[in-house]
Order: sequence, then C-alpha cells, then structure tokens
Amino acid sequence: MTLHVLIATAELSPLVKVGGLADAVAGLRSALLDDGVEVTTALPDHQGWALAGEVVQDLAVPPWTAPARARTGRLPDGSPITLVEVPGMRRDHPYLDEHGDGWPDNAERFLGWAAAVAALTDRVRPDVLHLHDWHAGPVLGFLADPPPTVFTIHNLLYQGRTSGSWLTRLTHHRQAYEWYGDFNPMSGAIALADRVVTVSPTYADEILQPAFGVGLEGPLAMRADHLSGIRNGIDTTTWDPATDPHLPVHYDADDVRPKRELRRWLQTEAGWSGPDAVVGMVTRLTEQKGVDLALELVPYLAGIGARLVVLGSGDRALAEGLREAAAAHPDRLWFHQGYDEGLAHRIFAGADLLLMPSRFEPCGLNQMQAMRYGTLPVATPVGGLLDTVIDGDTDPGAGTGFLSMDVSVVGLVDALHRAVRSLRSPKRRATLMANGMTTDWSWDVPAAEYRRLYEDVLGTGY
Ligand code: ADP
Ligand code: GLC
Repeated sequence: MTLHVLIATAELSPLVKVGGLADAVAGLRSALLDDGVEVTTALPDHQGWALAGEVVQDLAVPPWTAPARARTGRLPDGSPITLVEVPGMRRDHPYLDEHGDGWPDNAERFLGWAAAVAALTDRVRPDVLHLHDWHAGPVLGFLADPPPTVFTIHNLLYQGRTSGSWLTRLTHHRQAYEWYGDFNPMSGAIALADRVVTVSPTYADEILQPAFGVGLEGPLAMRADHLSGIRNGIDTTTWDPATDPHLPVHYDADDVRPKRELRRWLQTEAGWSGPDAVVGMVTRLTEQKGVDLALELVPYLAGIGARLVVLGSGDRALAEGLREAAAAHPDRLWFHQGYDEGLAHRIFAGADLLLMPSRFEPCGLNQMQAMRYGTLPVATPVGGLLDTVIDGDTDPGAGTGFLSMDVSVVGLVDALHRAVRSLRSPKRRATLMANGMTTDWSWDVPAAEYRRLYEDVLGTGY
C-alpha cells in the first residue's frame, strides 16, 4: 500500500520563497516523491500559477472564508501540487506589503487558508498530515477527526500570534490555541499534533529553555516525549559546484583549483585584491542572523586579515548600518542589498569562509551550501549550526569549519582568527574543505527519518 502524506506549507521553492522553509519543504517533498510516497502538497495560491492537467474542486469552508477552491495539477517539473485559493490570498509577496510591513489581514488570510486545508484533508483523507510552521498550525482547529499529524517547527520566533477574537472562528480545540487571551496558531499545533519536530536535534533541546523557547517552552516541555529534531538537507542537484549554472567555471572535491578564479571574480566585484581571506555572508537581515554582530566585527577585520562580502535583504535599520559601514570601510566590507540567487551561489563558491553569527538557528541551510562548495563556515554554536559544523581545531581530522565559543563578538573574532590561520596551511585547508564537500548533505537521510516518524505515528510499517 502506498503511503499518502498531505504536506501543508506557506512556501515552496521554486514557486514562492521568503526563507529556508521553502527550500526545506521542497527538498523533503521531492525526496518523498522519489521514494514512491504519494504526496499532496497544499500551498496557498499566492500567484495564480498555471498548472498542467488542472482539476478544480470547491472546498467546504466556513462562510467567512468562502469561496475556497483547490486547483490540483502538475508543476513544470512534472510533480503534483494543490494550490489552495481563499479570498485575499493572491498577493505579490506572501506576507509583506510594498513598505516591508506585514499585510494587515495576514491573520485572516492564513486562518482562511488553514480552514481550506482542513477541508482538503477531509476530502483526500491522507494517511498522515504534515503541517509546517505557524501558517498551517490552525488546521487542527478545523478538523473533527484529523489523521495522524506531524507538526514541523522551522522557526519558533514566528508564531502568528494575534487577537483572541479569532478563536471563535475555530470549530475545534479553541482552548489549545488560546495563549494568554490571544490566538496562537503555534501553541495549538504544539499541543495537538501527534509528533512535533524541529529542523535540527539541538534546536529541539534548546527550545525547552526560556532563552530559545520564545515563551512556548512550557507547552513544548509538556510534549517533550513527542518532540524530536530532524536536521534539514539541501538540494544537492541545485547546489553542486560541478554543474551550477550560476558559476562561470566548475569544480569538485577532486579538483578545487577553479575555485580560485571564482574568488578573484568576487574580489574584483568588491574592488579588492590580495591574499586577505574573503568571508561571505548571505542572509535575511534580521536580529536572528546576528547581522549587528557582523557589523561589530568590521573594525577587527584588518587585524585578522579578512574582508567581508554581505548579500542580504530585510530589516531597514540593519541595511542602513551595513551601507554606512561599507562606505566607511570600503576595503573591508562590501554590501549588496537585495535577494539575488545567482550572486548567492557565486559568493558560496568564491568566498574562502562563510560567516554565520546567528543568535539562534533552527537549522540553517547556508552552512551546508557553503560546505558543499568548499567554503568553510565560521558559525556560532547554536541549533543546526552545532549539528552540522565540526570545529577544525577541536577535531582536525573531521573538521568542516569553525565554531565560536559563544554568541559574542569576542567569540567570533577568535573563531575568525582560527579560521584564517587554517587557510594559511594548504594541507589543513584541503582536509577541512574535503570533509565538508564529501559529506552527504542531501535529503536522503532526513527524508528517511521523516518516513520512520510517519510509520511510527501510524503504528505500521509501510
Ligand atoms: P532562514 O530560512 O532563516 O532565512 P536558511 O539558512 O534556512 O535561513 O535559508 C535561507 C535560504 O535563503 C538559503 O538558501 C540562502 O542561501 C537563501 N538566501 C538568504 N538570503 C538571500 C539573499 N539575499 N539572496 C539570495 N539567497 C538568499
Ligand atoms: C527557518 C530557520 C532556518 C531553517 C529554515 C528551514 O527559516 O530560520 O534555520 O533552516 O527555517 O527549516
């Protein structure tokens, strides 16, 4: 019998991506499909995308979010998709208006989508329902008889918390979604799902503490027996330095010499030359990513023998800070504001090191992308960074990068120093690069873990 999983997600690469959620769900979905699992992927119909072989079905939703319909068909890559349409969903950006502020009706839009996904679930009756992040959290508040459910937390910071007045729209389990008088889509899903998963094992432990639990450490502790971490993978076909169409030259673990040419390209782009280490950073500009810590590092870069290239978009104040610092230290910092996939790939390929000074990191894909490209991550010891980066001084044989001793400027200066020193020893550098480049970062292992979890929650061997 074929296992049927309904995945509900607000983002899916390459259709709609704001953060790693889109890549992570796309990677899991395609690994499951390759493995013969039947997957119904329910995505908001953000853009009215055209589908091949489309079948349209009305969904039985409450009057406040009617009419709702599901368009099921195939994407250009041939994979099946179900676009769920509710009033107000179709926008240029899934969450933000043209000023970068959240759409004022986000609570209603995603609550309506969740109600429609519940109606879809009742119609297709999957073996397992797999909900992702807060947008899909309320689905269980609209189901009388849900299938076994897995809820994956990609980032606990974004909970979708809003006015308690929305609670009356739920048809079931209102209490689980009530959080200090407010409506909290995440607290409800944490309480109700059969299994709660985070995107790395360390983050699953961290969120039980107030420092990382964003207020939900209590409800999470109550589910501790059903909480686990499965580290994300990356799409190793898209992220392959041997074939990457964004790169003018290619390389692999057997011959990394062409990487030097990509390094020269990046230096020229930034207006630099010389032996100083080129450190890259590709990121959403948020407090989570420690962009302010990176800014504080700039005055130390000359002493360390490093220069920093930042590609990022997001918070206006952080972008302004980066622009000012780049203008004041053009020989040390180059900042490109925006979202640019091609440039991101060329930074991962051309840089010597990748900086990830995250305050918390549920998993992080950047560090895996960097290691796949032979670029050594320099990261803080949190969440998925701790689970994927092996410090080259602590374990020279197996090392893949460098971890700071804590989340601080002092810790990061020390880690950068150690990383730059390792670049100066060709043998050492080659070992660290090869270790990262030959590790299996694909979705094969994580998808198999999710499959085991589905079987576990079903109590069967599929
Ligand atoms: P998060 O989801 O918290 O932003 P992840 O590391 O999980 O962090 O995923 C971010 C993804 O988005 C990665 O694939 C990264 O390469 C990409 N990315 C982030 N910022 C940019 C940008 N400015 N331009 C291009 N790609 C970006
Ligand atoms: C979130 C997290 C990031 C993770 C991604 C995909 O955006 O911030 O750490 O890699 O989700 O799971």
